[in-house]
Amino acid sequence: CGIVGYVGPQDAVGVVLEGLRRLEYRGYDSAGIAVVADDVVSSAKKAGKLANLEKVLADRPLPESTIGIGHTRWATHGGPTDRNAHPHVSADGSVAVIHNGIIENFAALRAECEAAGVEFTSETDTEVVAHLLAAVYESTPAGEGRLAEAMRAVCQRLEGAFTLVATHVAEPDTLVAARRSSPLVVGIGDGEYFLGSDVAAFIGHTRQARELGQDQVVEIDRTRGLTVTGFDGTPAEPTAYTVDWDAAAAEKGGYDWFMLKEIAEQPQAIADTLLGRLGEDGELVLDEVRLSDQELRDIDKVFVVACGTAYHAGLIAKYAIEHWTRIPVEVEVASEFRYRDPVLDRSTLVVVISQSGETMDTLMALRHAKDQKARVLAICNANGSTIPRESDAVLYTHAGPEIAVASTKGFLTQLVACYLVGLFLAQVRGMKFEDEIASIVDDLRGLPDAVAEVLTGMEPVRELARSLADANTVLFLGRHVGFPVALEGALKLKELAYIHAEGFAAGELKHGPIAVIDQGTPVVVVVPSPRSRNSVHGKVVSNIQEVRARGARTIVIAEEGDDDVVPYADHLIRVPRTPTLLAPVVTTVPLQILACEIADTRGYDVDQPRNLAKSVTVE
Ligand code: G6P
Repeated sequence: CGIVGYVGPQDAVGVVLEGLRRLEYRGYDSAGIAVVADDVVSSAKKAGKLANLEKVLADRPLPESTIGIGHTRWATHGGPTDRNAHPHVSADGSVAVIHNGIIENFAALRAECEAAGVEFTSETDTEVVAHLLAAVYESTPAGEGRLAEAMRAVCQRLEGAFTLVATHVAEPDTLVAARRSSPLVVGIGDGEYFLGSDVAAFIGHTRQARELGQDQVVEIDRTRGLTVTGFDGTPAEPTAYTVDWDAAAAEKGGYDWFMLKEIAEQPQAIADTLLGRLGEDGELVLDEVRLSDQELRDIDKVFVVACGTAYHAGLIAKYAIEHWTRIPVEVEVASEFRYRDPVLDRSTLVVVISQSGETMDTLMALRHAKDQKARVLAICNANGSTIPRESDAVLYTHAGPEIAVASTKGFLTQLVACYLVGLFLAQVRGMKFEDEIASIVDDLRGLPDAVAEVLTGMEPVRELARSLADANTVLFLGRHVGFPVALEGALKLKELAYIHAEGFAAGELKHGPIAVIDQGTPVVVVVPSPRSRNSVHGKVVSNIQEVRARGARTIVIAEEGDDDVVPYADHLIRVPRTPTLLAPVVTTVPLQILACEIADTRGYDVDQPRNLAKSVTVE
């Protein structure tokens, strides 16, 4: 979900709506807004995208106010209806609350409120907070900081993960927010304050931000300013930072979709991720990896843990890190990792990959790894987010804001960061094949141009996409690092075009999946370089023939000069020659475009596909 709060001189509805627009990628099932004016909390909320709420507000404007909160929802408890939309207002009308996360003990708390005579109007877990907060406020001694005090008391009773922001009629100059395992940042403007799930909420107004810690309550008062405490009332000091991108970076800039803009930004994003990290002499400079050389030498096992697209980056990392370092690498989706009691100790390095830095499954896996004393290195794109803060070390990807729900530049820069980690480990551990490593470092420098070259040749892919728009099923095949690329290609197509798609290791095909191939079934094949050392090229070429013999329509992604594939490709997409382990950086790009264009042809919202959210902050 996306959360926005504002206190300052401007019209709150305008500022909050603008923030919600920028945060809509975090959830778009419903949206709502509340302001305090003339001793009344007024709210408006509506199921569906933000545009629906804007229509409601155009018909029935909220009273003018300079303090407000807003929410855009990704439904958990209770379907995406008007009633379940946030803000939730207490029965006595005194409090409005917005929430991101899940309150696990809400059923018990709800029963308690109902026993006290409160009638609930929604099915959400959030509503209970509104009623509790209103009741606790009444029994909190009057005086400065009363709402914050009541919020602390309520938070102590809540189980689960939450970001909460509340307003109270009796405190028209104060916003109070709390966070436990869920994102919240504060923006500091000139005489004005902002709250947001991430900095995009206020980037149009200020780049000065404050990061909050775990289990903290922040009170923002028009005159007293910012006060941060723990849930127990202990004063705390938030960390200040400056956002290193501006509002223009979070706008479409002439593209039809954010996704297209972000695909186009990939060469620059990769260059930014490499910037300052490749030394003149082929040495890697990763000062920000705050693990000592000894700690890095002691590592005897690596886990890569992530979700969704970031997990696919992890799968590719395994091939590279194992090859360069000879350290065994396991890759696992975060939601499974923690619950199966993985074998971890001090000499295990856990690499968590998360574009947003807020994915709850990944965060919980990270905490589990730390409990087991493993070293945790985060690969992350969002400064000030929770995952890097809780990790021992972090390598930022510097891709700039990624707004489209389906990750593109986030993914390619995660790959680059994984390569850097693998090569750095090899360097520190003094691996023998220095020549190969030096040449790979050189090849990394060539990646921005290679991706730019792929992008210039995408018109045939767009045409192909239009002809695939009616497909019911699309299969993706690859071997070696091409296998995770196939998985990523299938995921993109599912996410965006709602077409059934599956990725397979090409060698597994004959062990089952080949049965689904029928006359005309599109099969996308990611072909490895014919020059790769332990080449599986020939085997993939055979796999293309096998599917074609069974009626498949083959869409082949192969590097320039690979003539072996030509006779078997119904459609041939060329990518520049790239060393095997780095090839996913170029072979993924046509698959991104393919999914994006198919979705667009089918008339879907590419940036905000149904049922999804950019950053899933519940487990
Ligand atoms: C959500 C998004 C995916 C993304 C995944 C992991 O499910 O819809 O596109 O890959 O989260 O996100 P993260 O921010 O942790 O990389």
